[in-house]
Amino acid sequence: MRVIVRGEPSDLNGFVVPRSNAFGHQFRDYEKESGRRVAVEEFYRTNHVNQTFDFAKNKKEEYGKLQRAEMSIWECCELLNQYVDESDPDLDEPQIEHLLQTAEAIRRDYPDEDWLHLTALIHDLGKVLLHPSFGGEPQWSVVGDTFPLGCAFDKSIVHHQHFHDNPDFHNPAFNTKLGIYSANCGLENVTMSWGHDEYMYLVAKGNNTKLPPAALFIIRFHSFYAMHRSGAYEYLMNEEDKEILKWLKVFNKYDLYSKSKVRIDQEKVKPYYFSLIEKYFPEKLRW
Ligand SMILES: [Fe+2]
Ligand SMILES: [Fe+2]
Repeated sequence: MRVIVRGEPSDLNGFVVPRSNAFGHQFRDYEKESGRRVAVEEFYRTNHVNQTFDFAKNKKEEYGKLQRAEMSIWECCELLNQYVDESDPDLDEPQIEHLLQTAEAIRRDYPDEDWLHLTALIHDLGKVLLHPSFGGEPQWSVVGDTFPLGCAFDKSIVHHQHFHDNPDFHNPAFNTKLGIYSANCGLENVTMSWGHDEYMYLVAKGNNTKLPPAALFIIRFHSFYAMHRSGAYEYLMNEEDKEILKWLKVFNKYDLYSKSKVRIDQEKVKPYYFSLIEKYFPEKLRW
């Protein structure tokens, strides 16, 4: 069975049974929704049981070497685009469409923040981990909400109950409020669950991007809903994190709302994004 997961808690929680006035559609829609609910829960169960501190650390070490491929930012967009996985959250449309929609929506409202436009374009490129010719990683280790490891799992994390079967949950070194961290140590020093956010952060950083710290923060923590939506884990944040969080909140609004079907004329906007890629990245990146 294909698992359908949306990274947004708004989609995952509080399922609303669709009310259709078209006779006969009610039952079918309900079935579909409840089937999806079961699939999402199963996705998070697998994710929560397997995302341990050691797992994330090993993945970071493995992929952080950036020895898998050499390609430009745009080549990666295209690689992701030709891989149409109907089970991927953002892929009701081709992936480039989602990326450009998000970027163009932000560009319209924040015309002077060109770094933010590019951040939007690249924020999900880490999903190449799903691509069979690239990482071939399972969904539970690529998409979905992310959370800190090495300290207690906050109750606000979606489907928190499944952490009971995660070995870290029972490890006294990891299951206290601060765990291995010190108060307000800064999110930069926190080991997050492994996924496309963390991977793209490693790629951007490892290739010496000229993007500002706020861009790296957005890339790395955009699926960390417990923090930016629910306000959890403030005790791990330092002053800089709290300041930068404002940009993540701006970004997140567009990541969600631009998923409407606004068609983008790719050929028209491409030159602009190519110029940004050139400004902030080397021509070829190590992945
Ligand atoms: Fe994402
Ligand atoms: Fe996204």
